[in-house]
Formats: sequence, C-alpha cells, structure tokens
Amino acid sequence: MTGMLRSFGLSLAAVTLVLSIATSAAAETHVVRIVSDYENLHFAFEPPLLVVQPGDTVTWVNDVAEEHNVITYPGGYPEGAESFQSPYLSRADETFSREFQIEGTYQYHCLPHLMMGMKGEIVVGRRTELGEFHQPSRSEIAAYRNQLLEWFDEDDNLLQVRITEKRERRGH
Ligand code: CO
Repeated sequence: MTGMLRSFGLSLAAVTLVLSIATSAAAETHVVRIVSDYENLHFAFEPPLLVVQPGDTVTWVNDVAEEHNVITYPGGYPEGAESFQSPYLSRADETFSREFQIEGTYQYHCLPHLMMGMKGEIVVGRRTELGEFHQPSRSEIAAYRNQLLEWFDEDDNLLQVRITEKRERRGH
C-alpha cells in the first residue's frame, strides 16, 4: 500500500511538473510601443488594442525621451481585477511590465496626454461586458481626480462632465 501511494505520489508530481512546463512555455510577452511623434503631434500606444491570453505579460517600451505613463481608467478594468499604474517613464527604452491573469478588458491611458487621446486597451482572453467593469468608489474617483489635477487645471469643466457622465451611465 505504501509503495502504491509512493508511486502514485511520484506520478502526480511528474504530471504537475509537465503541466507547469507547458503553462510557462505558453505564456508570452507582448510589447506595446510608446510613441512620441512630434511632427504630427501624435502621442500613442502602438498597437492601441492588444489581445493576449491569461498569464501573458505586456511590456510597454518608451520610444524616446518623453514623459508618459500607463494608468487604467477608474472604471476601465474587470470587477475583481486590479487597477494598474506605471511610474512616469521619461528615458528612451524605459519599460513597464505587467502580467495579466484575470480575463477581460483593461482600458488605460497616459495621464499627461489624456487630452490628446493617448489611450490603449488590453483584452485578456475575452472582452468585458458593460456590466462587468469595476465600479469605482467615490474615493477611487477622488484619488484619480487628484492625479489629473497634477496635470490639468482645476476649473476644467470638460473633466467634470466626463466623470459625471460615466457615473450616470453606470446608474450611480
Ligand atoms: Co503620453
């Protein structure tokens, strides 16, 4: 009996090992370039939409010496997942990486270039349905707003309208 258990235990370990090798071999790293095109005043994430699989890693690479960051919108990721935010990248070839485990849509942008439409989307496995996005709390929105105020004027009415609209669409 002990012998049987031991060999069973060994084969389980072997199966687990094979599975973990298969899993790690399947995980990929994808690159999103952070583009600063001064001639065309085009600041962008390339590609703007990236589809990956759970377990994959995304690495953002800053093309040139220009200040950008990568930050999720307060309600721009699946409920149950974590928001993310990079430090400010300012040097050429500076990178930020994140591994994605939870399926869904992650909508992010660059804070300093928010008004220039510098945004992107990572879809992990499948798209998040409208009702499945994280519902930001008042304190999360306040914290986000405080970060925006580091870059934009307090009297920017456009910003207020956008946040209010987003809350109303979600029935808050
Ligand atoms: Co930027």
